[in-house]
Amino acid sequence: MKVDGKHFRSIWLDEDGWSVRAIDQRRLPHEFVIARLTNCLEAAEAIRSMLVRGAPLIGATAAFGMALAMREDASDAAIDRAYAVLVATRPTAINLKWALEEMRALLRPLGPAARAAAAYARAAAIADEDVVINQGIAQNGFAVIEAIAARKKPGEAVNVLTHCNAGWLATVDWGTATAPIYLAHDRGHNIHVWVDETRPRNQGASLTAWELGHHGVPHTVIPDNTGGHLMQHGMVDLIIVGTDRVAANGDVCNKIGTYLKALAAFDNGVPFYVALPSPTIDFNVSDGRAVPIEQRGGEEVATMTGRTADGRIETVRIVPQESPVANYAFDVTPARLVTGLITERGVLKPERMALAATFPERMASAAE
Ligand code: MRU
Repeated sequence: MKVDGKHFRSIWLDEDGWSVRAIDQRRLPHEFVIARLTNCLEAAEAIRSMLVRGAPLIGATAAFGMALAMREDASDAAIDRAYAVLVATRPTAINLKWALEEMRALLRPLGPAARAAAAYARAAAIADEDVVINQGIAQNGFAVIEAIAARKKPGEAVNVLTHCNAGWLATVDWGTATAPIYLAHDRGHNIHVWVDETRPRNQGASLTAWELGHHGVPHTVIPDNTGGHLMQHGMVDLIIVGTDRVAANGDVCNKIGTYLKALAAFDNGVPFYVALPSPTIDFNVSDGRAVPIEQRGGEEVATMTGRTADGRIETVRIVPQESPVANYAFDVTPARLVTGLITERGVLKPERMALAATFPERMASAAE
C-alpha cells in the first residue's frame, strides 16, 4: 500500500541482498522510520518490542530471522537455537510458530551449505504468499461489502468498524481486515471506517488511521467504548477484525476488546466478520480457551505516548503511581458470535467442519 504516494511493504530484503528492512511501527504515526535487521537476535527483538507486530508480519519476520541465523551458522544446533529464540518472542499469534515450523521442516533435511540460500528463498516466499492470500481475502470480503452496499441507497456509505490494526502494517501488504476495504475503496465504493483507538497501545489510532489516511480511505477514529453506541444508532453496517489465532471450532482470539465488540454486534444484529489467512488457523487447539493470552507490561496501560504541540514525542503517566494495572493483550470471541470467517478460499461458517473441509492440508499438518 502507499505511503506518501510510494508503494511499501511492511518488510522486505534490503538491496544488499541479505539484511532485512522493516517499518518501525513503534514510531508511527509521528515518524516514518525504516529499521534494518542484521541478525536473528535483532529479528527476535523486533518482534518482542513490537517494532513489527500483527500475526502475519510476526510470522514473516521470524522466517527472515531464521534466514539471518543461517547466514551466520547453518548447523543443526543453530536451527534449533534460532527456532527457540524466535518462537519465545510472543505467545499468542500462531503465525509465528507456523512460519518457524515451515522453515525448520525445509532446512533440516538440507546440508548446511544449502541452508542459507534456501532459508532466504522460503522467507521471501512466505512474504509473497502472504500478499497473495490477502488479495484472496480482499476478493472474498469485497463480495460481503458489495452485498451490503446493494441494500443501501445509491452512493450511501458502507460503514465498517474495525479493531486494532489488521491492516497492511500487520501483514506484508494489503492487511486482512482492511484488504476488502482497500479493494472496495479502489473500485469506487463509498466506504467509511470507524477505527477503534485500541487501548492500551492504540494500534487503531496510530497505525490503522495512518495507513487508511495514506491510502485515502475515509475513516474516523473513535474511543474503544463508542462502538456499542454507534451500533445502537444504525451507524455500523458491519464489523471486520483480524485475528491472531482461530481455534479448530472457529473461536477467534484477537486484540483485547474484540469480544466486547462482538457482543454489541450480536445484540444489535450487526454482522461480525473475522478476516484471516490460513496460517492463522490452529487445528491443534480445539477451542479458544486453550489459546495462550499474552500479558504485557503495565506501562502500556499506565502511560500514553504522543507528540506535543512543539513536536516532541513524550510519554506521560495517566494512572496514579500506586495503582496496580493489568494488561491482557488478547481475548477470545466465541464462534457463536462470529457471522463469518473471511479467508483466501471463501467466507466460511465459524465451524470445525467448514475449516477442515476448506483447509484439509492445514488440518493434516496439525495432526503430524
Ligand atoms: O498486539 P498486536 O498489535 O500484534 O495485535 C495485533 C492484532 O490483534 C491483529 O488484529 C491481529 O494480529 C491480526 S493482524 C492481520
